[in-house]
Parts: sequence; structure tokens; C-alpha cells
Amino acid sequence: MGKIKLDSRLSAVADFVREGKTVADIGTDHAYLLAYLLQQGTIENGIAADLRKGPLENARKTLIESDQLEKVNLILSDGLDELKKGDCEDIVIAGMGGILIKEILERTPWVFDENIHIIAQPMTHAEVLRRFFLENGFKILEESSATDGKRFYCIISAQYDGIKRDAEEWYTYVGELIKNRDNVSQTYIEKTIATLEKKLVAMQNAGVGEVDTLTATVATLKQKVENNG
Ligand SMILES: C[S@@+](CC[C@H](N)C(=O)[O-])C[C@H]1O[C@@H](n2cnc3c(N)ncnc32)[C@H](O)[C@@H]1O
Repeated sequence: MGKIKLDSRLSAVADFVREGKTVADIGTDHAYLLAYLLQQGTIENGIAADLRKGPLENARKTLIESDQLEKVNLILSDGLDELKKGDCEDIVIAGMGGILIKEILERTPWVFDENIHIIAQPMTHAEVLRRFFLENGFKILEESSATDGKRFYCIISAQYDGIKRDAEEWYTYVGELIKNRDNVSQTYIEKTIATLEKKLVAMQNAGVGEVDTLTATVATLKQKVENNG
């Protein structure tokens, strides 16, 4: 297999991993991320965890072929259930829905720890995850975005500091991306607004849902974009 190359999504995830930390990749599947980080020398060891045996075997194969197997602990685990405090410092959960990522984190008391960084890449419902972070004492440190030309992805880095924050509705949809000036982040925000506008029209036509709240959220988002955050 030789040198691992990551696509733009996983590459953006890798950028948030801290050098020299032990990384747990939850829902690892092919373990490309860990193999890459190990080959690059960004990290020295890691944990590859997955709910299913098949993906874990994919991970083993990648790690053998990239000559990194001895540095990785492969664990069959639902979320973080089979890991414990002290096992890792950076937790990556990428390629899953935002609701599932939230559920995995909220049932794991030891992630509420200021020494841990969480790097999440939700495929859907990023707003649910941002709300969870803010309302449960996590600070959103930074966000980035990526695209494969078809889909746009956001990557969120968060850390517990014990301060519970009000989650403003507009913020839950775009988070710290509002501060980013790159084209991909700006397009992500435009697409998010367009999706909300479609939802708003559907709600208005059906005469259901919280039309006023969503109207206000879309208006605020547009204003934030105009004012550059
Ligand atoms: C789409 S793949 C993502 C692989 C990789 N993380 C990435 O971003 O490219 C999702 C993986 O998450 C695993 N998964 C789903 N639910 C999980 C859970 N509750 N705990 C651990 N792994 C889970 C699946 O088995 C699958 O291998």
C-alpha cells in the first residue's frame, strides 16, 4: 500500500489532531486516518474502534499494509463504551450522523475532561452536535470545512471547559465556520442557508412547524454573512 493519501474530508480531520497525542478513531472502518497520522509521525500510537468486525478487519488490513499495526490497539466497541479514562487524548468521530455522535459523547462521562480534544465530522445534523457541545460545557475551539466536489463537510474541534453556553439558533447551523474566509466554508454556509430556506417554504406551504423561529434564524444567518461574521 505504501504511503497513505487522505481525501480532502479526512485530511481536514487530520489537521485538527494534536501532535504526539494518543488518538482514538471511533468508527474507524478502513483506519486510513490513523495509518496516515502514524506514517506522518504526527502521532506515535492510536486506538482504532468500530462497532462491527468487518470494518475492524478493514482497519487491520490497512494497518498491516501501511506497516503500522503494532502501534494501534484495535477494539470492537459501540462508541467509546469499551474505552476508559486515560486511554486517549484526542477522540475522532468522523463519517457518522451528528445525532449518533452526540449520543456516543453524552453517555461517556470521561470525555467531559479539559485534557481531551474531540474532533467530530458529522455527515448530518451538525446543528444537533453544536448545540450539545454548547449546552453541556464544551467550547467549540475551531471548525473547518471540506468538499469532494459533490458534498460539503464540516469538521468541529471541541474541548470541555465546564462553561454551559446558550446555543443561539443561527450559530448551531454554521458554528465557527462563520469566521472562516475560505471559499469552501463560505459555500458550506450558503448551502446551509439555501437548505433552511427550502425547509421554510415547505413549512409555510404545509402550515406546520415553527415558521417564525426559522424565518428569524435565516434572517440572522444572512445578516451574519453580510457582516462577515
Ligand atoms: C462511514 S464509516 C466512516 C469511516 C471513517 N471514520 C471515515 O470518516 O471515513 C462509519 C463507520 O462507523 C461505524 N459505526 C457506526 N456506528 C458506530 C458506533 N455506535 N460505534 C462505533 N462505530 C460505529 C461503522 O461500522 C462504520 O465502520
